Amino acid sequence: MGAVILGTGSCLPEKRLSNHDLGKLVETSDEWIFSRTGISTRRISSKGEEAFQLGTTAARKAMAMANISVDEIDLIIVATMSSHMTMPSCACFVQKELGADNAFAYDVSAACSGFLFALDSGDKFLRVEQNKKILVIGTETLSSRTDWKDRNTCILFGDGAGAVVLEYKEEERGVVASNLFSDGTLWNLLYMHAAPSCNPELEQADNPGAHILMEGKEVFKYAVKSMEGAINGLLIRENIEIDSIDLMIPHQANIRILKKLVSRLGIKQEKVFINVQKYGNTSAASIPIALDEANREGRLKRGDLLLVCSFGGGFTWGASLLRW
Ligand code: COA
Repeated sequence: MGAVILGTGSCLPEKRLSNHDLGKLVETSDEWIFSRTGISTRRISSKGEEAFQLGTTAARKAMAMANISVDEIDLIIVATMSSHMTMPSCACFVQKELGADNAFAYDVSAACSGFLFALDSGDKFLRVEQNKKILVIGTETLSSRTDWKDRNTCILFGDGAGAVVLEYKEEERGVVASNLFSDGTLWNLLYMHAAPSCNPELEQADNPGAHILMEGKEVFKYAVKSMEGAINGLLIRENIEIDSIDLMIPHQANIRILKKLVSRLGIKQEKVFINVQKYGNTSAASIPIALDEANREGRLKRGDLLLVCSFGGGFTWGASLLRW
């Protein structure tokens, strides 16, 4: 039917940064952060925990669960916006670390929706090249892209990686359908400069720093509205009732966004997987980390219907349905 997830894996940096720790960096409190976001702590990468390294470890765990060797991987797609280099791609570094000599590799850039977009690309690829195996990875070290003096943003984000192994199966399971969107006209509500966009005077490069900037309230409103629209559109298209969903794994941005979304959708709270309290918003890594935790906790049984949704800078957003 479509791309089936053979194995999941995740990797979190060792170092924890609690809300109390953040109170020493900016004027804030555990009470303020937790009540506004549901986040208690997040992980912060150290040296040796670059995005490609976290992604590689997550990929190894996913391959171990799938019981496949690295030589069997044909394609590596990495969703990230925080690789240590712009070129080569993070995916090429993962390929090198794994020694995945038979794979080609590239990155997908769709901010917090990156994993969902990469999963869709992997699924579409496998519908054409059915005898291949793919690694889809979401990995971020947003601590390197955060302004640690800006209390509006630095409380939100964390580092980590998650990965899945995909294979096409002629069975009634796998990715059922996706409903993905972008609206570049809203770019300036959530963005991060990369490098100077042009240099007509050919001046020597300086480093102004690239940090996440955000209009929090606007992002909040659009996030709820957009994910709700994408999910309802998908359910109508596939003729599926919300009650038929066994587990929902949303992008873990903020507990208040998720609670609002859940109440508007009318899905039971206990069917929604939440781990934002432990890791904050890990952007493209949040869904595959949550998916791996849910999988390893036994929350997914063969035949279950899984709903995944995301929202991020761009804006980018969407929803996918998977039969486990
Ligand atoms: N600690 C204490 N006070 C803070 C603070 C912090 N970390 N951050 C902001 N404040 C202050 C503000 O300065 C403001 O003070 P003022 O009234 O004196 O100006 C006050 O708290 C309220 O700020 P506001 O921005 O209105 O708060 P909010 O209720 O909208 O919550 C967010 C802020 C960021 C938590 C919320 O807007 C949000 O979750 N947005 C979505 C962000 C997101 O998920 N982005 C990623 C999407 S993928």
